[in-house]
Amino acid sequence: MLSKPELILAIESSCDDTAAAVLSDRKVLSNCIANQTIHQAYGGVVPELASRAHQSKIIPVVDQALVQANIDKNELTAIAYTQGPGLLGSLLVGSAFAKSLALSLNLPLIPINHMQGHLLVHFIEEEGIATPHFPFLGVTVSGGHTQLVLVKEYFDMEILGTTLDDAIGEAFDKCGKRMGLDYPSGPQIDKLAQTGDPNKFQFPIPNMEGYHVSYSGVKTAFTNFIHKETQINARFISDNLNDLCASLQFTLVQIILNKIEQVAKEYHLNQIVIGGGVAANSELRQQLKAREERHQWKVFLPPLKYTTDNAAMIGIAAYYKLQKKQIGAFTDSSQARLKY
Ligand code: KG4
Ligand code: ZN
Repeated sequence: MLSKPELILAIESSCDDTAAAVLSDRKVLSNCIANQTIHQAYGGVVPELASRAHQSKIIPVVDQALVQANIDKNELTAIAYTQGPGLLGSLLVGSAFAKSLALSLNLPLIPINHMQGHLLVHFIEEEGIATPHFPFLGVTVSGGHTQLVLVKEYFDMEILGTTLDDAIGEAFDKCGKRMGLDYPSGPQIDKLAQTGDPNKFQFPIPNMEGYHVSYSGVKTAFTNFIHKETQINARFISDNLNDLCASLQFTLVQIILNKIEQVAKEYHLNQIVIGGGVAANSELRQQLKAREERHQWKVFLPPLKYTTDNAAMIGIAAYYKLQKKQIGAFTDSSQARLKY
């Protein structure tokens, strides 16, 4: 007899997106996100404003996810939420909501590591998603993280290398701010770079020890360069915006590509699995695909809707936790710096 599918409501609130999704086993029935536009005025996420916005958005987003999935809350079989890492105030809103709902519906509660979720989106059952086999090289590139991870099993992940300072998405956003672009600048830089020359300006590519990367040097070099040039020509940025974006993007992507090549070679890994907001970047996607044949790699890129923060990634991770009977407790606390 076929067993009934798990119907999982997943909640993600680690940063500035309030998201809810409903999954039936590995299939996504709904994936809803309420973006917080309030942070644009400040050029970055303001933690206190983020947690307040989560409070006002969480109920409508969860409602929307249930309606779109055509599921009544009484049909649910589990509730999942992001335990960390992230902004503590934001995480607490999601976990308090998830805990209350699980308690009132008498359902298992499943805490999920956000970074594991970014990599596990590749296990969603959906047209256009190919699933990797263990072990593989997981690469998380987002606004808060840049990690090279040896993924041995669903929840057995070892960080081999990480950024020693800024994350790659942070470098996109901070350099974008310097050019007068709105937050988050990554998607705008990507768009503007399409018609720019990636070789017009050169920025340093650091050679870090081991498998680590660094993004603060290029950010400083970029800022100093712009400062110097605008002293000479006040319109330097607007006159060169597309070339600046293309050259910056080329450098930021090259830094992580070099490390991916190094780790893949030294660990004999030929499946490269990308996750996180910067996985949407067209230069990174093209450069990785171009290396498939050269290095005999298989590159796994998530569909764009599963790159930036979403709750489907929390739901798919929860599905595997349920399979392993790894259920959380109501006493589990949110952790801003949750490790793998
Ligand atoms: O994973 P995510 O939604 O949130 C974190 O966990 O940090 O990633 C957000 C980051 C931001 O820094 C944003 O600028 C960047 O992803 N991003 C991009 C693109 N789309 C989003 N960066 C470069 N190119 C893109 N197309
Ligand atoms: Zn994320």
